[in-house]
Amino acid sequence: IPEYSLDRDCTTLSRHVLQQFSTFTAAEAQDISAIMNRIALAAKLISRRLSRAGLMAGALGFTGETNVQGESVKKMDVYANEVFISVFKQSGLVCRLASEEMEQPYYIPENCPIGRYTLLYDPIDGSSNVDINLNVGSIFAIRQQEGDDFDPQAKDLLQHGDKQIAAGYILYGPSTILVYSLGKGVHSFILDPSLGEFILAEENITIPQHGPVYSVNEGNYWQWEESIREYIRYVHRHDGYTARYSGALVGDFHRILMQGGVFLYPGTNKNPEGKLRLLYESAPLAFLMEKANGKASTGTERLLDIVPKKLHARTPLFIGSKEDVELVESFIADW
Ligand code: AHG
Ligand code: MN
Ligand code: MN
Ligand code: MN
Repeated sequence: IPEYSLDRDCTTLSRHVLQQFSTFTAAEAQDISAIMNRIALAAKLISRRLSRAGLMAGALGFTGETNVQGESVKKMDVYANEVFISVFKQSGLVCRLASEEMEQPYYIPENCPIGRYTLLYDPIDGSSNVDINLNVGSIFAIRQQEGDDFDPQAKDLLQHGDKQIAAGYILYGPSTILVYSLGKGVHSFILDPSLGEFILAEENITIPQHGPVYSVNEGNYWQWEESIREYIRYVHRHDGYTARYSGALVGDFHRILMQGGVFLYPGTNKNPEGKLRLLYESAPLAFLMEKANGKASTGTERLLDIVPKKLHARTPLFIGSKEDVELVESFIADW
């Protein structure tokens, strides 16, 4: 029995991207496929560094800085943030990058006359897992640049999630997996390090309508509204539910996408909007979840309808199987 089937071995990410373009013009298709190739390169660089970080002097731990989110920054956050910038420099593709780790968007002036796209990204998702060799991820979305060049506030990014042209994530686990959608289905690829290529694993992923997993930080129980506590008591009382929470949204999301269930990050007393950033985390994953037949909600509204008030805005997030997200929504509505 061969180790790989030849067909699977041959469908690389770049070939797959080129097959996705019925809804794009030829110029757009060329741009988006080049952007996806650069994102794949960033993923390989970050994956390589993560797999060796524990052997390298000075790759792990904190920098001593605090980011715009008020979080202590890790060296891997900085490394990964810079990798995305450097793969897009002089590419002519992306005029602007906006990241969880940067207070303001980063403009690449030499790209701006032609590269009318913005990359939004969370360079390392699940930073608390980094020093203990557990799964982390990266999240990305591509939007068209609609505003003036070099607007430091990037006001044109303050639009709803349906403005995303593409979104995806990379999960750095036992193997490195890239999942993406250009609006037509959700597809996963596994990095074969010996080839340096992302190889198609599954096309047109769909999430079950209901699943067993609920994924939430129950340490916040007394910080939530009573409706969320009531929902959690409901799953405790009923058979067929199981809790899974890794501390990295990308990992928890991937499990739920593949097996069904719901991820919850509700508002808390201290942070009524929760923790997750709309433009870099919630909206890209909501885009994928809807394309996979699932649902993403703030608890009261469709997540992709939300217009952020500022670049680093947060939203509560309930995302996963339709029936499970609707059940959470019904607890919130009834309260
Ligand atoms: P990041 O590491 O990008 O700052 O994101 C961390 C996020 C997310 O990955 C995870 O689901 C959540 O924070 C965990 O937060 P809690 O520790 O509050 O549960
Ligand atoms: Mn962070
Ligand atoms: Mn994150
Ligand atoms: Mn992050």
